[in-house]
Amino acid sequence: MTKTSAWDTGRRSTRLRLRTTVVSIAAGALAVGTILTVAPTANAATTLGASAAAHGRYFGAAIAAHKLSDSTYVGIVNREFNSITPENEMKINATEPSQGRFDYAAADRIVNHARAQGMKVRGHTLAWHSQQPAWMEGMSGSPLRQAMLNHVTQVATYYRGKIDSWDVVNEAFADGNGGARRDSNLQRTGNDWIEAAFRAARAADPGAKLCYNDYNTDNWNWDKTQAVYRMVQDFKTRGVPIDCVGLQSHFNQGSPYPSNYRTTLQNFAALGVDVQITELDIEGSGATQANTYRNVVNDCLAVPRCNGITVWGVRDSDSWRASGTPLLFDNNGNKKQAYDATLSALNLNPPSNPPSNPPSNPPSNPPSNPPSNPPSDPPPSGAGCSATFSVNAWTGGFVATVKVTAGTSAINGWSVAMNLPAGSAVTNSWSAQASGTSGAVRFGNVSYNGRLNAGAGTEFGFQGTGTAPSGAPVCTAS
Ligand code: XIL
Repeated sequence: MTKTSAWDTGRRSTRLRLRTTVVSIAAGALAVGTILTVAPTANAATTLGASAAAHGRYFGAAIAAHKLSDSTYVGIVNREFNSITPENEMKINATEPSQGRFDYAAADRIVNHARAQGMKVRGHTLAWHSQQPAWMEGMSGSPLRQAMLNHVTQVATYYRGKIDSWDVVNEAFADGNGGARRDSNLQRTGNDWIEAAFRAARAADPGAKLCYNDYNTDNWNWDKTQAVYRMVQDFKTRGVPIDCVGLQSHFNQGSPYPSNYRTTLQNFAALGVDVQITELDIEGSGATQANTYRNVVNDCLAVPRCNGITVWGVRDSDSWRASGTPLLFDNNGNKKQAYDATLSALNLNPPSNPPSNPPSNPPSNPPSNPPSNPPSDPPPSGAGCSATFSVNAWTGGFVATVKVTAGTSAINGWSVAMNLPAGSAVTNSWSAQASGTSGAVRFGNVSYNGRLNAGAGTEFGFQGTGTAPSGAPVCTAS
């Protein structure tokens, strides 16, 4: 069940009452030294996946089923990555080649390989104007809408429980000025086709994160970025199920890495969705290319809800834009300068913004209802700070995401008190120092997120067993 705390309109009195209670209990907890946040030893990691995992993130690659017999290729894939996206095998023309006949053979080879290696799988993609089978390209109107929804339902149901994140809808906005929807047969079935697809996907696989994925959405100032932002904002406001935004991030001279990329990641994340860099490739070579890869990694690590990066291929020769040599390994499978920059950025970043355990994949029991309610923006609280939280709960466990916001003055540190129901326990946390595991628990800032300017916010999270807390969190500033 998904719950969101209601902001407690009587929070002033609640805060005073709780603060007293919590301080004394939390002090007891501190005395026995129950500090839950584990600082990852990121600088020990020697592969992209392991280093990203130390940050509570994944580092993935798009792969092709027909290359799984190439030992150099598979060697790199298995060694370096902890997430896989089928490059073409889950597209509509691959999974439903004739209407009503589904073919999962090639996609299954990738999914089975990934699962055998303990890797996540990103599903790509359920609804898209491109790479449609001929039968779908020829359809329109209500029959097409029904066929699209059936496709989403069938494929997401078939892979239910095996997909970390689905690109439910891909590339639905037009390039250029104005931020309009892209014209397509799907768009012509009605402007609500995107939300209809998301609802169908949620019903079919409630445990998968549902993403909207697009390109040329990296530069915060571009109309297309703004248009996608407004759609996600609208979905969150109206309760349309969406959990993540995918930025393809195919960078080249025509679509360069923008200096405001981090701002874009931050702004999407602030809507209450995860942000994933889903198809990264950066054309170029040498130090220039390496430096851009470094910037992208640093930007993602700076945003707690940027929880994964996927490169669109393994070796340059595997790339859909091979002539631009945009990937991390050369044609022979050797590590490029871009690889070294990427790995060192992952390792050099301090236990950065550790989701030390990511909120993304609550363990074995998938949530019966994935997150649909973001932390809402807390109201201004004067001096001091305020906190709101959202919960993704399933039978026997939960993940809570807490948003801390400074009041009308800057603060140098914060502490958030919460009460867990009897029988519940905190099992880990990220981006906060947790004190106490049950009953009254408290979360203090860590080194990089204590200082907040007036009105600024930050997020931390924790995971627990039992029933999720429901009372308003109490924030104390220092
Ligand atoms: C590309 C594949 O890499 C190619 O092999 C295929 O021929 C065409 O599609 N945006 C997307 C991806 O969402 O699905 C595209 O993948 C690249 C652009």
